[in-house]
Amino acid sequence: MSEKFAAVEIISAKRDRNELTDPQIDWVIDAYTRGVVADEQMSALLMAILLNGMNSREISRWTDAMINSGERMNWSAISRPTADKHSTGGVGDKITLPLAPLVAACGGAVPQLSGRGLGHTGGTLDKLESIPGWRASLSNDEMLKVLQDVGAVICAAGAGLAPADKKLYALRDVTATVEAIPLIASSIMSKKIAEGTSALVLDVKTGSGAFMSDPLKARELAKVMVELGTRAGVKTTALITAMDVPLGLTAGNALEVRESIEVLAGGGPTDVVELTLILAREMLDAAKITPLMDPADALKNGAAMDHWRRMISAQGGDPDAKLPTAKETHVVLAAKTGELIAMDAMKVGVAAWRLGAGRSRQGEAVQAGAGIEIHAKPGQQVSAGTPLYTLHTDEPARFERALEILEGSARISDSGEKVERLPLIIERIEG
Ligand code: URA
Repeated sequence: MSEKFAAVEIISAKRDRNELTDPQIDWVIDAYTRGVVADEQMSALLMAILLNGMNSREISRWTDAMINSGERMNWSAISRPTADKHSTGGVGDKITLPLAPLVAACGGAVPQLSGRGLGHTGGTLDKLESIPGWRASLSNDEMLKVLQDVGAVICAAGAGLAPADKKLYALRDVTATVEAIPLIASSIMSKKIAEGTSALVLDVKTGSGAFMSDPLKARELAKVMVELGTRAGVKTTALITAMDVPLGLTAGNALEVRESIEVLAGGGPTDVVELTLILAREMLDAAKITPLMDPADALKNGAAMDHWRRMISAQGGDPDAKLPTAKETHVVLAAKTGELIAMDAMKVGVAAWRLGAGRSRQGEAVQAGAGIEIHAKPGQQVSAGTPLYTLHTDEPARFERALEILEGSARISDSGEKVERLPLIIERIEG
């Protein structure tokens, strides 16, 4: 088949800061998915995009082309409105776990396609896989059935959803082109739009433990994604939220499931509960759902827990099974007495990763029990010699490198210094 364009012309157009036309974008994404455009050509184009950017028309067309590379899911058989949440990822960010069953308990349908962790941020599927028997891979029919029966489903995106993104993401990972806002926004939004949700709430994290540590960049990313969702007819809202400090008191797969279950039982750390409730209200509001009950009540009266148990069972998991624990622990003590004024989310995330909670290559196994328990958060008083962190791993040789990165991660002051912490919700952007 003769091709409409030559890849080299498209690469040179972007290299020379020209706009790509709609037909050029459609072709290059399609031809790359078909294997006609080679990895080295796409790598050059991605780098030109990273350096020279794309305007909003180009980003929108690029996103549409990625959506059109695969299937679009359809939830018209579901009687309830659909709403989903996407987080750009952070340390201890387990919010999806209590949030999906909570929104279902309040009357929404949550079709959540999630990912695995890479690097210092955890992945929802890795966390849920620490529950004995739980299955991340569902067919579209199984997904529909769980959504219909329970109101919430969390599973892996199938191979048919935005296949162009799967190829592009793997290439970006090895060509230092992950960080371009047009590429991040189109990657996330192509999957969310193809997933077929009618409303979407984006949790864009900023701070040391986030993908976008610069708040201005986080804001720009949020704006681009809200615009893409809105143009595609998805009611999209973004919250820019704090990721300077880890969320909650745990980072690591089974440890985070345990904390999520505490939230579903009406307890749990204040920041996790607060963010879960804020996002639940945003999702219900965006999907124009009159809640069957107030989300805070659904956490207290067992309704959210009931939906969690049903959601886990429907995917083969045993909600009553004992969660795995690591073979070894090591406690880190506070070096002095005073107020804890800062805790570096990135250092805690990297330490959890080094303990075995995360992977450094796609496909690597993770340890279900590995991670970190945090015993004090900024703003709290600590006494010298009391526990600050408990490290968990199956392989004690991993402690040394985790301890190395944790050095200086928590700052304790006895001289009345101000606590350094971003507000939990920094900004809200509505489409
Ligand atoms: N998550 C995605 O799905 N894509 C990106 O580009 C970055 C984060």
